[in-house]
Amino acid sequence: MVDFLDIGGFVDDTVTLPAIKDLPPDYQQTWNTPTIRLPIISESEPVDDRVPTVVVDDVHVVYRIATGATWDASPLAGLKRLVTKKKSVAMREVHAVKGVSFAAYQGEAIGLIGSNGSGKSTLLRAIAGLLPTARGKVYTQGQPSLLGVNAALLNDLTGERNVILGCLAMGMSLAEAKTRVQEIVEFSGINERGDFASLPMRTYSSGMSARLRFAIAAARKHDVLLIDEALATGDGTFRKRSEARVNQLREEAGTVFLVSHQLSTIRTTCERTLWLEAGVLRMDGPTKEVLAEYKKFTKTD
Ligand SMILES: Nc1ncnc2c1ncn2[C@@H]1O[C@H](COP(=O)(O)OP(=O)(O)OP(=O)(O)O)[C@@H](O)[C@H]1O
Ligand SMILES: [Mg+2]
Repeated sequence: MVDFLDIGGFVDDTVTLPAIKDLPPDYQQTWNTPTIRLPIISESEPVDDRVPTVVVDDVHVVYRIATGATWDASPLAGLKRLVTKKKSVAMREVHAVKGVSFAAYQGEAIGLIGSNGSGKSTLLRAIAGLLPTARGKVYTQGQPSLLGVNAALLNDLTGERNVILGCLAMGMSLAEAKTRVQEIVEFSGINERGDFASLPMRTYSSGMSARLRFAIAAARKHDVLLIDEALATGDGTFRKRSEARVNQLREEAGTVFLVSHQLSTIRTTCERTLWLEAGVLRMDGPTKEVLAEYKKFTKTD
């Protein structure tokens, strides 16, 4: 347990404080503030020395959707709205994530399961900073990368071009991107049945596109990698290969979140699992225990 010792009062420069060099920098920054808080670590309890990479604190996400009459952008309609102060568009709200809290640590692979529409993709998008939270906060180490089946690559460009585009988007230089193309295309295996890398991506099957997207994202080390269903569309061979890569990414001290309805993938890849249902975090714990409860809930094996 970590508690805080409140010294209180202003401390002037003449006061000698013991072992200041041993304190973490953020404690030193509070030096001239009225209160100095030093951690007291109780000897009886083990110290949690894991490094948190994502902290989700009571996060709520609400979608607002315009329903009914479409928005009239004409000047006359605008004037009418100003005068009558009436909004001509009815808004509906969908409360997709309701008060979710957890912390993820370096080196963890975390599964995210739950029924359709339970808020898994929404939660990942909020962690990636792509959706604002209505309430609560998300703290992350570095910029999390969201890899979804809808990741933005251009369908009219060839696979090779998309690899370069993806690498540039992940912050590689053009020279580095060019040297990685071969390896990424090989990992994706899209060329196993002919030279598909030089054909536009729109000619790929959905599984082939997903393979290429995963191969691009996996080419870089990520602090936090968020994978939404991308592995599910691949076939057995590719799934095995990508599972191995997820484990490797995790060993490189990153944190991986994996959304999947394929419970076998979650079981082999993640040691911890979060279960969302109707936007609420139903369970957070060891994969085996969470899957057992989830299976009881869905009555599947
Ligand atoms: N762009 C959007 N606008 C409005 N509502 C949305 C939008 N995206 C998702 N929702 C709603 O938010 C809720 C959660 O959706 P979300 O896509 O996060 O679920 P999910 O757990 O990823 O489901 P699935 O397993 O089907 O992928 C659903 O009720 C859905 O209708
Ligand atoms: Mg989803």
